[in-house]
Amino acid sequence: MRMRKKKNLESRLENVQSLLVQTELSGGRGEPFCGKQLELSALFPAEQPLEVEIGCGKGQFAVALAQRHPDVNFLAVEVCANVIVQACEKAQAAELSNLKFLRIDAEALSVLLPEHSVRRIYLNFSCPFPKKRQQKRRLTHERFLNIYKELLTPDGEIQQKTDNRVLFGFSIEEFSRCGFVLSEVSLDLHADEPEDNIVTEYEKRFTELGQPIYRLVARPKA
Ligand SMILES: C[S@@+](CC[C@H](N)C(=O)[O-])C[C@H]1O[C@@H](n2cnc3c(N)ncnc32)[C@H](O)[C@@H]1O
Repeated sequence: MRMRKKKNLESRLENVQSLLVQTELSGGRGEPFCGKQLELSALFPAEQPLEVEIGCGKGQFAVALAQRHPDVNFLAVEVCANVIVQACEKAQAAELSNLKFLRIDAEALSVLLPEHSVRRIYLNFSCPFPKKRQQKRRLTHERFLNIYKELLTPDGEIQQKTDNRVLFGFSIEEFSRCGFVLSEVSLDLHADEPEDNIVTEYEKRFTELGQPIYRLVARPKA
């Protein structure tokens, strides 16, 4: 089902233009993406390590993370205009210079970012795409993991959190099959919540429903 366009969407997007990275992309919808690689040094005032959140939704996690770590640059990726606009508005209110947003399908990252330029990727409560024919769209499907492998620095990592047991099991299998080593695997993150955990919008919602939160860290094999 297609989401209805939010009221005033175009003017709200216009107001947060400075936070949205402009891209020259073609392709998608079954065709490979083509376009120009981004010049990272032109995106942020300081040259510092880069971390990427994919599927940032309304941006609560990305904004809190960027506030906590001013010595890191963050790119938050989101395909849906209705929600990325809200994320950008939050970031604008927080006056952050180390957080920018990409309104793209994550698949286009392979074209936009240089190889081995990303220190960490966050996958928070990614859409589970429960139907078998939709599995390719899961952000931990092999086709995405191969892109992340190219993007990560040699000591880089992926941090995944989800409430969805099926997606978590699928992800463990895909990570293992694609040459990642797993660590910090938790079947109930909040039973022993790390001090530095930043709760996302979906995490709050599912935790209030009493659902356990699954988490893992995946690193490409050396
Ligand atoms: C369930 S929401 C979770 C939002 C947020 N991370 C949280 O934890 O509250 C997943 C988000 O991922 C986005 N998404 C799904 N597939 C994507 C893709 N291929 N590229 C970019 N964003 C994607 C969806 O539009 C949606 O906003």
